[in-house]
Amino acid sequence: MPVRLGFVGVGGIARHHISKLAGMEDVELVAFCDVVRERAEEAARQCGGRAYTEHKEMYDREELDAAFICLPPFAHADQELSAAERGIAIFVEKPIGLSVERAEEVASAIRERGVVSSVGYHFRYMDATDRAREFLEGREGGFALGYWIGGMPGVAWWRRMEGSGGQVVEQTTHIFDLARYLLGEVAEVRAVARTGLMRDVLDYSVYDATLTQLTFQSGAVAEIASACITRAGGRVGLDVYGRDWAVKLSPNRLEVSEPGRTEIMEGGRDPYLEEDRVFLEAVRTGDSSGIRSSYEDAVKTLKVTLAANRSVAEGRPVRI
Ligand SMILES: NC(=O)c1ccc[n+]([C@@H]2O[C@H](COP(=O)([O-])OP(=O)(O)OC[C@H]3O[C@@H](n4cnc5c(N)ncnc54)[C@H](O)[C@@H]3O)[C@@H](O)[C@H]2O)c1
Repeated sequence: MPVRLGFVGVGGIARHHISKLAGMEDVELVAFCDVVRERAEEAARQCGGRAYTEHKEMYDREELDAAFICLPPFAHADQELSAAERGIAIFVEKPIGLSVERAEEVASAIRERGVVSSVGYHFRYMDATDRAREFLEGREGGFALGYWIGGMPGVAWWRRMEGSGGQVVEQTTHIFDLARYLLGEVAEVRAVARTGLMRDVLDYSVYDATLTQLTFQSGAVAEIASACITRAGGRVGLDVYGRDWAVKLSPNRLEVSEPGRTEIMEGGRDPYLEEDRVFLEAVRTGDSSGIRSSYEDAVKTLKVTLAANRSVAEGRPVRI
């Protein structure tokens, strides 16, 4: 029996998942929901499913095994909860929203209903990340430096604080999540930010640059830089340092250095394809052990990134 999938939100990243899923066997793309009707209709025409503008109607009319929820941060309302309550597995794009309270309610429903969940932290599915985790096993991480320095994504909601939550919450969240994946849970967050460099950009209210310091429960520390002001000279990745070693992770690349030895790993599997494959396998079998980022786990990353915003606003460290 093919896995029957529906989409909530059929924008840029949904299209990316559709391009991966369309080539897989045992998957049927049966329904597409978007508040912009034409987007749902176009996807339905291309993939052979039905179009909706209201997610509950889609959940009730279609017999879905799973829903891909690919919404902008501000738009998360009851899409996850009403899927979980109906026993529909959910793949949710990061960030899972802008409200920890709402996310915790969804996490409880997922637990109670035993629903399969996965969140689109695709960096966790890189071969390079697997190797970094293997190297770090049994080693004590000392400190880390993380980066998401670049330009702004083109979607209008991104540049509004109430639309995206800002760059830390929407984009650099991948690096915060990687830091948790490699160094464990965060105990305290402190952050500073600046504005004023993007006066020419209309309707812009996110920070230009944010520097966030993390203290981990293990005692490790990290500094993560976010900036959306430059289309040149950017950098995305996380470097972890310990006694006499360094691990430098960036998209599909890893460099491990020890005295007298440098190991470089480049390329590897497509992490988007892998996260989709693993999710579908979990839906088919009910065994979630291959999923690297469950909804419940992603709540912890959301808490850390929202704490960074709070630390900036209140000018003090925030305990997690
Ligand atoms: N993992 C990644 O690498 C990655 C990459 C890009 C985007 N994302 C994440 O994916 C999410 C979506 O980003 P995007 O770039 O696809 O945005 P987008 O604006 O291109 O698409 C979002 C779609 O959701 C629709 N929508 C809004 N509210 C809705 C609602 N209530 N019901 C149904 N549809 C609704 C919009 O009309 C739009 O078509 C964001 O959270 C973003 O952070 C992840």
